[in-house]
Amino acid sequence: AIDIAKLRDVTGAITLDPGYKNSGACKSAITFLDGEEGILRYRGYAIEDLAEKASFLEVSYLLIFGELPTSQELERFETNIRKYTLVNEEMKNIIDGFPKTAHPMGVLSALTSALTAFNPKSVNVENEKELYEGICKTMGKFLVIATWTYRKAMGYPLNYYDNTIGYVDNFMKLMFSLPTGPYSTNPKVVAALDKLFILHADHEQNCSTSTVRMVGSSHAGLFASISAGVSALWGPLHGGANQAVLEMLEEIHKAGGDVEKFILKAKDKEDPFRLMGFGHRVYKNFDPRAKIIKVAADEVLSSLGVEDPLLDIAMKLEKAALEDEYFKARSLYPNVDFYSGIIYRALGIPTDMFTVLFAIGRLPGWIAQWVEMRANKEPIGRPRQVYVGSPLRDFVPADKR
Ligand code: ACO
Repeated sequence: AIDIAKLRDVTGAITLDPGYKNSGACKSAITFLDGEEGILRYRGYAIEDLAEKASFLEVSYLLIFGELPTSQELERFETNIRKYTLVNEEMKNIIDGFPKTAHPMGVLSALTSALTAFNPKSVNVENEKELYEGICKTMGKFLVIATWTYRKAMGYPLNYYDNTIGYVDNFMKLMFSLPTGPYSTNPKVVAALDKLFILHADHEQNCSTSTVRMVGSSHAGLFASISAGVSALWGPLHGGANQAVLEMLEEIHKAGGDVEKFILKAKDKEDPFRLMGFGHRVYKNFDPRAKIIKVAADEVLSSLGVEDPLLDIAMKLEKAALEDEYFKARSLYPNVDFYSGIIYRALGIPTDMFTVLFAIGRLPGWIAQWVEMRANKEPIGRPRQVYVGSPLRDFVPADKR
């Protein structure tokens, strides 16, 4: 029989697939995605059903533990998350070290990593109780520090989790409540956010999730792996696209709303400009999340009575791109982030916090994938390469170069 390992050593045969366009890195039972048909399911449940009928914490539980929770399990999960929402006061010294102008994603990544300093005991994945606690701790503390990145930028006092209201309500309260007055959240705003978080909660082996799995594969801790995921998400080709979309729509608006000019720019191969919020590595017909979000954007804007000229520009841009041969030929359709920014803006979320919201939504997916990777005892991630550099060269001393 042929020994494949030996053969590989002899021939040096390696599969070269930059960007892993066709390479599977793992087996996963979490999210099913069919890019051709535009299907997305978490643990077998259609995203459309979950977005309409479930809450974000229910979906988080489903992703992480594999089944929808009973009412008791959900209550226990929420109670345990609440238990871990206190963040060590010394973390405030770290926050104070950042300039107010720092991007919240950079601060969030650093703070998530810093949590390891205050929780040095790595989660023991073999111990069910410790793993459960580690998961609840991550869900609790991450939400609080995510909002602190905004409070720091605004120079406001940092808020604490309110045990009398829910997880998503808390996000708004942590962000916006001030000591000078009472605070109440509009239930429509909370419902819209809940839906957005569900739509972002997992998306199989995307850039940030595979980063989390890769870092975790060296048996680095959960906080360290999630912190790396935050950094990966920050880039404009991934989660940073939601901020970039809004900035692009503002630019088009300032330029008089001429969408055709920007379509031409996006098609020009000499111009690095891309239509932000268009295209997806996997969805080649439509992004099912974008369909749900588009309806949600209409609902939110009309129920809050917000008239936003950027929404009109977004509609025009979508129509023009969908009719354009360049975009059609390359199967470039609006993705989830094309509309999410418009909703966030209507909810009063500042633009540079958009990607932080994506991170809050994606957190249960990152946790679920990390836990699965460890449970499956996956080997350390270590891709190979095809070396294209110089052959062996003689060393030349500095005075002879
Ligand atoms: N505008 C203009 N042209 C585009 C765009 C775009 N938004 N996206 C892809 N193309 C073109 C490319 O130039 C390329 O053209 P070519 O074949 O003539 O060279 C072709 O379409 C294929 O593009 P790739 O970059 O090879 O596709 P890939 O799958 O690697 O990239 C990506 C996917 C990164 C999402 C890309 O479409 C993009 O940059 N989109 C804009 C950023 C964005 O919206 N990102 C969010 C992704 S969704 C998420 O993270 C939640």
